Amino acid sequence: MRNEWWKDAVIYQIYPKSFKDANGDGIGDLAGIQEKLPYLKELGVDALWLSPVYLSPQVDNGYDISDYYQIDPMFGTNEDMVQLIREAHKLDLKIIMDFVANHTSDQCQWFQESRKSKENPYSDFYIWQDGKADGSEPNNWGSSFGGSAWTWDDSRQQYYLHYYAKEQPDLNWENPRVRQAIYDMMIYWKNLGVDGWRLDVITSISKDWDFPDNPRPFAKNNQHNGPRMHEFIHEMNQKVLTPFDMMSVGEAPASGAEDAHLLVDPKRQELDMVFTFQHMHIDRKKGDVNDRWALQAPDFIQLKQIMSQWQKELEGRGWNALYFENHDRARIVSRWGDDDSYRYESATAFATILHGMKGTPFVYQGEEIGMTNPKFPLADYIDVELKGNFQHYVEQQQTLTAEEFLAAVHKVSRDNARTPMPWNDSANGGFSTGTPWFQLNPNYPDINVLADQKAQKSVFHYYQKLIRLRHEEAILKEGSYRLLLPEHPTIFAYERRLKRKKWLVVANLSDSPQELQALLPLTAGEIRLSNYQDSLAQSRLRPYESFIYESGTKTEKL
Ligand code: GLC
Ligand code: CA
Repeated sequence: MRNEWWKDAVIYQIYPKSFKDANGDGIGDLAGIQEKLPYLKELGVDALWLSPVYLSPQVDNGYDISDYYQIDPMFGTNEDMVQLIREAHKLDLKIIMDFVANHTSDQCQWFQESRKSKENPYSDFYIWQDGKADGSEPNNWGSSFGGSAWTWDDSRQQYYLHYYAKEQPDLNWENPRVRQAIYDMMIYWKNLGVDGWRLDVITSISKDWDFPDNPRPFAKNNQHNGPRMHEFIHEMNQKVLTPFDMMSVGEAPASGAEDAHLLVDPKRQELDMVFTFQHMHIDRKKGDVNDRWALQAPDFIQLKQIMSQWQKELEGRGWNALYFENHDRARIVSRWGDDDSYRYESATAFATILHGMKGTPFVYQGEEIGMTNPKFPLADYIDVELKGNFQHYVEQQQTLTAEEFLAAVHKVSRDNARTPMPWNDSANGGFSTGTPWFQLNPNYPDINVLADQKAQKSVFHYYQKLIRLRHEEAILKEGSYRLLLPEHPTIFAYERRLKRKKWLVVANLSDSPQELQALLPLTAGEIRLSNYQDSLAQSRLRPYESFIYESGTKTEKL
């Protein structure tokens, strides 16, 4: 039996570039992370997931890897990584690395070789195709970063496929040598002490080699769940994940509750968990020509349905990865909450909903202090996705004006979560003594770690309590789940049950008071955690009020 440590864990994601700069060059680094281990321990998390720190030209902030065996000098050395792992382990913190297996950087030696000719040892490491008779792209597939997914290469005289930037060519997983090379790299890091993997867009690794056109030019229907995906992931499991006892959480953008169990059912031996996207699309207009930039007010009835369906579908045949924020998402208080009058209340309300569920909660750096989206002018953003999409939707397709695009950027762009971590109110928020690679959120003098820890209403301390509850109360890990008030537009309420114990998790996801007692009469019981001091003193829930409540049936404490 594997030790399924992640089921008891809360995992913290670090975006190394923006976490803590120890040497003053403006870029966060491994020494900075090491310096902050006591902070993470104080928060109470069990494992750290580091976004990629390998050698990379940084076109996509490290998700474009040129050498998987080497830590990028901007972050430190391989020895620094080994030391970080050792220090983390001393504190009983596990380390999860990010593995980008779908594509490499175009600066990777494999690609440099592959592009030279059709007959060299690396020719088939990538996905090369001839153009159509008229010389145009092999088909109409789009890149996630805007424009075509194909780029012409002069030396090779063919097109290569890239689901992301043209500097991120997709690997050819049909080639067993590619797969073995990937397994070897995972074993290398395992030998240096890594405990597990976050597998970047792992559901993209198998391609449809008929290359059929998509219904709409530049659409991305082709990108996930290709014909041999399960077979490849199972092989990875058998070659490395299981024999080397490594935990895995895969990014699965297009998986639904109905089919995700195929990736995470332990019987199938593929992955331990997946990050899915459905619940993050409740503020998106479906099928719109502007794709992820076409926004609407969040539909919380849908959020409840989706998250509850996940709880049900994976019951007994998989384990959920729970998240609202990561390096590709915006700050939840700015996106769905209220980052002004009710910043503390909305940050803690969303946290309560997430951490009350069955699964492993993920906390993204800064989420634990209720960081907000910065509202920069367009020119101040730097993300490759944002720039490519501006070109595509505003300049070429012209279905969005620059103003409309910027409004969407302020809500959902990836840069929202990438501003450096503010540790205190000193220059650059104590993140760096140099010039930060990306601006801090201008509100850092008010919203920073130290200020939050000292505040009477501290998001950090609320997270500490939530994490402690998860460690102490088996009901959060094992208890059954049942959604309550499914039709209510803003109250998210559910029940967890374990043996004779019954907990209610309740949050008002709006800034207006909501009648509760009449809808959900609560018998005498005990508030276990709440973001208002005198919860249940009133029959109504106040703005973003949330709590975890243990029902009155007197059972012995666990
Ligand atoms: C994943 C990463 C994202 C990256 C993309 C390409 O979605 O989370 O940051 O840009 O894959 O690697
Ligand atoms: Ca640095």
